[in-house]
Amino acid sequence: MQSKKKNNKNNKNSKSKDGRAKVSLARQASLKALKLVFDGKSLSAAQAKTIENLDDTRDRGLANELVNGVLRWRWQLEFFVSALLSKPLKAKDSDVQIILLMSLYELLECRTPDYAIINEAVELVRKTGKRWADGLVNAVLRRFTREKEELVSSVSEDQAKYSHPDWLIKKIQNDWPENWQQILNANNQRPDFWLRVNKRYSSAEKYQQMLQENEIESVGSAISDQALKLLQGIDVRQLPDFSLGAVSVQDVGAQLSAGLLNLDKHQRLLDLCAAPGGKTCHILELGDTIKALVAVESDEIRMQRVEENIQRLKLDADVVPELIIADAREYKQWWDGLTFDRILIDAPCSASGVIRRHPDIKTHRRPTDIEPLVKLQSEILQAAWQMLAVGGEMLYVTCSVFKDENQYQIQQFLKKQSDAKELPIDAEWGHECDHGRQLLPGEYEADGFYFCRIQKTA
Ligand SMILES: C[S@@+](CC[C@H](N)C(=O)[O-])C[C@H]1O[C@@H](n2cnc3c(N)ncnc32)[C@H](O)[C@@H]1O
Repeated sequence: MQSKKKNNKNNKNSKSKDGRAKVSLARQASLKALKLVFDGKSLSAAQAKTIENLDDTRDRGLANELVNGVLRWRWQLEFFVSALLSKPLKAKDSDVQIILLMSLYELLECRTPDYAIINEAVELVRKTGKRWADGLVNAVLRRFTREKEELVSSVSEDQAKYSHPDWLIKKIQNDWPENWQQILNANNQRPDFWLRVNKRYSSAEKYQQMLQENEIESVGSAISDQALKLLQGIDVRQLPDFSLGAVSVQDVGAQLSAGLLNLDKHQRLLDLCAAPGGKTCHILELGDTIKALVAVESDEIRMQRVEENIQRLKLDADVVPELIIADAREYKQWWDGLTFDRILIDAPCSASGVIRRHPDIKTHRRPTDIEPLVKLQSEILQAAWQMLAVGGEMLYVTCSVFKDENQYQIQQFLKKQSDAKELPIDAEWGHECDHGRQLLPGEYEADGFYFCRIQKTA
């Protein structure tokens, strides 16, 4: 972790009427959000219940910084807490533990003066009603400020050094013996903010000019001609013509899928596991590249997002996409028997390639999650295969870096299907695998994605 590089100006260390220091709303919201995540909620659900209700943009900024920072650096921060406490806190005092994690993160990473961070932490503990802990929090944080350098240099075990759970480090080491440190370091970075410019609306170059006119700096990408990376955080509603469908937020790695489908205007395309519709919309934006599109998604609420995105981007003019809420595996219940020329499977996966964007994955994912996911992916692959026309192509995509979900999955599939042939992916980006191609997190400032193209032979 680097020290003291952000300047959070929203350190409102003001006093309330009774003369006691007020606890910032941002820190209260961060504590609530982290409690929810540690109790099993996803980060986005926790943010929606807490941080997103804060009125002040700067409060939201600080709260998001603290919550994401703690989730990224949790294992290193926990190492410091253990080193500073004579005995661990009880499970029922998880709020005190979280306040320590938040404050240590802030002491390491933010420019707020140390005394203000410590005062806020003490007030926050008092607000929880655990007055017995205010002295402890004060003492632990003060000791940290005194012994910071020795403590930071005493971090040697991988779990604390790379701030990932042990099982995840071992799995990544095993799958990527040459690249594991690169992957772990990339997972701890703040994600880049990528846009996909709607080709029907404008080119990336023209939209970049519009951004510039609005004093929003951006840069293009070497791997996607529709991608622009914003150099500052911004509410998407402030982007020029966002509501008119000019752009979507989509990682540049995800933008590679549409190009790998080798589309033409006579084709029927099946998009399995479609929500929230990033890739569906990208395909539709390319213009008259297909004849028909059927998108299947099992989650009804998420499917609404596909519909909203199609409407915002005005993509139902030439090809009216058919949206089916169903389990991709149960194809006999919804398929009309007409084969598809192209099938995209954007498979449900461990999401181990997008940890930098969703740091709660490190907290939530368990080693036992992988086997059921591999089974689900294999069943979706099998179902998709039944619906693919002879000569047709299937693109299998995951946002995982685990080989079980990627090249080993495809290896098993190819073993079973004698009428399946892998097609090459000629690209400069990523790593050629025994089967398919892997873009690792952070490469080309993208998230981690795996792609494999398979053709059905006669
Ligand atoms: C990686 S996300 C897809 C992202 C999407 N393609 C995009 O580009 O925006 C995987 C999706 O698969 C859906 N899903 C999971 N199991 C499924 C199943 N058995 N059948 C259909 N969809 C499924 C999940 O609800 C989730 O929306």
